[in-house]
Amino acid sequence: MADIDGIKDNNEKDYGIGIPVDTTGFFLKGLNNYDWGIKNRMSRIYNPKNGRTVMLAFDHGYIMGPTSGLERIDLSITPLIEYADSLMCTRGILRSVVPPIANKPICLRYSAGSSVLTYLNNECTADIDDAVRINASAMAVMVAIGDPLYEAKTIENLVKTADRGYKYGIPTLGVTAVGKDLARDARYLGTATRICAENGATFVKTYYCDDFEKVVNGCPVPIVIAGGKKLPEIEALELCYHAINDGASGVDMGRNVFQAENPVAMIQAVRGVVHDNLTPQQALELYDDLRS
Ligand code: R5P
Repeated sequence: MADIDGIKDNNEKDYGIGIPVDTTGFFLKGLNNYDWGIKNRMSRIYNPKNGRTVMLAFDHGYIMGPTSGLERIDLSITPLIEYADSLMCTRGILRSVVPPIANKPICLRYSAGSSVLTYLNNECTADIDDAVRINASAMAVMVAIGDPLYEAKTIENLVKTADRGYKYGIPTLGVTAVGKDLARDARYLGTATRICAENGATFVKTYYCDDFEKVVNGCPVPIVIAGGKKLPEIEALELCYHAINDGASGVDMGRNVFQAENPVAMIQAVRGVVHDNLTPQQALELYDDLRS
């Protein structure tokens, strides 16, 4: 039987009369009306203090096999994990290589189906049970807007993933595809990111381009940028800087980190730009200090 001796008289209890309940909105754009689980997982990927994130992408092998810098992920990526806010990888690499004690939010590569050796974009999605089983904080689905063969299929993949994500409180990252024939301008990327958001993406990954503010402003949910092909370090840091200044809420970067001459220094320099508002030159100085 419950012990009722300690129960105070109602007049003695503290109801905080006169102190209004905090009704401020969620810290990420467009997500205020989402469920608790999705907000909680987004708060693990993003730093709630500044609404930004440095995601480390090393899922390239799902279409490219042993990509340069990812031949031995246990050697190349493990030392970077502590500096990443979130890890984006396949379930194969997660289980084989990523230490569970890393305790970083996982953005699971959730769509797959073709490789660089054939025609990209013909993808399916994994089972939601597996995303739950590995405690995914987000599921990444590629969407190929403008692909005459697979646009509809990849949008269907996104829609179904978002449906499952709502059910279990797991965010969906819409990843805009790039292909030889797809443009990387504000008109195309603005269209692709908006379509991802409209169809249920909780956040969207795309590429930086001229007039990027138009892409960001036309997309009702947060955007992170991919790094793309390896650039000289200063150019990669400039890319991050301009993207953040133009409204990106972070980066989901791979090759420009793990293919850098010193990846541990590079990810910290990227963090400097994203989280500490360093200029590209200041971040390059940090990079040079750290690698020397
Ligand atoms: C691409 O298929 C993958 O999803 C990568 O995660 C993405 O391209 C980001 O990596 P990177 O910065 O190397 O472009």
